[in-house]
Amino acid sequence: MNDLQEKLAAWNGEQLLTSIDHPTNSLICIGIHSSVLGPATGGTRMQTYATPEAAISDCLALSKSMTHKFALANFPRGGGKAVISVPASLTPTEKRGLLERYGQLLSRLKGLFYTGPDMGITPEDLNTMGQYAPDYVFCRTNASGQANNSGDATALGVLSAIKSTVKYLEGVDDLKDKTIVVQGAGSVGSALIKLLLHEKSKVIFTDIHEPNERLINDGAVFVSPAKIYHQEGIIFCPCAQGGILNETNIQQLHCKAVVGAANNQLSHPEAIQQLQTNNILYAPDFAVNIGGAMAITGMEALQWSQEKASAEIAKIGDTIEMIYIIATHKKISTVDAALQIVEERLTKK
Ligand code: PHE
Repeated sequence: MNDLQEKLAAWNGEQLLTSIDHPTNSLICIGIHSSVLGPATGGTRMQTYATPEAAISDCLALSKSMTHKFALANFPRGGGKAVISVPASLTPTEKRGLLERYGQLLSRLKGLFYTGPDMGITPEDLNTMGQYAPDYVFCRTNASGQANNSGDATALGVLSAIKSTVKYLEGVDDLKDKTIVVQGAGSVGSALIKLLLHEKSKVIFTDIHEPNERLINDGAVFVSPAKIYHQEGIIFCPCAQGGILNETNIQQLHCKAVVGAANNQLSHPEAIQQLQTNNILYAPDFAVNIGGAMAITGMEALQWSQEKASAEIAKIGDTIEMIYIIATHKKISTVDAALQIVEERLTKK
């Protein structure tokens, strides 16, 4: 078997749809990983990938992780994800045309896949897609009557996970004067940094773009991307690209736990053992970062009130605590503990 065949076999999902957008020479991949708990739902990610295989691999991993997220949160949706690999030269006009055709494709799928934002997709982009598939696109701009941004809700969930981790480690969930190291200050990272500053935490952060001056004026300390792994703090919080925890930088970490929003943070499955060896507690990303997808889908598809969404987000910390307890009790990794809960919920249905 070649690499892609192996990945497809290991993925164990329901359907992988691919479509070529000829006018822009883009590859659209939609992974329907599981519809056991409900219709497959997940963000759409748009970026340039080196190869079609890289785009497909990302789609497989991200869609599977959505299944895990919804199952852990006990939310009635299945896992799916779309990845659109675009040429680096894509112009705004070309992007618009591509999103219109992608919206038409979603409409033809008639609810096989529901989507929201992910990297490279703005609320305005979701409006464009939503013109053609209004029932299947979440998180359009406020003017369209939808939530506009899932980053704030995701950040609230990460905060809940950080608090329960600190409580698990130190007995109290007060984040005052605790140093939190945040990698990435995009939609989730910047919202989280604001929440942490409000809790009077010390925040050290990085981003590949120019830092947001407001965050610095409010007290967060900016370091260059290369320096972030070396910073000392109780929590290291990845909020940017996935696959960032590898043999080299796990050795560099100066933290007691990794709790962050980025999807698929471990570069390879064995990274969890290395974290354990280094005495670093790992909160599985798919348990931490469900806040946005759950709150937005709940409010837009299940008529949840804002209060209901906030109450569900606040439960993320409880789930994290349960995972730590099961892992300790059964002497298994936190990832395996979380996956056991997922499997139980998927087979019970
Ligand atoms: N980007 C979100 C995630 O990875 C996906 C999402 C957001 C899905 C909002 C639906 C609604 O969890």
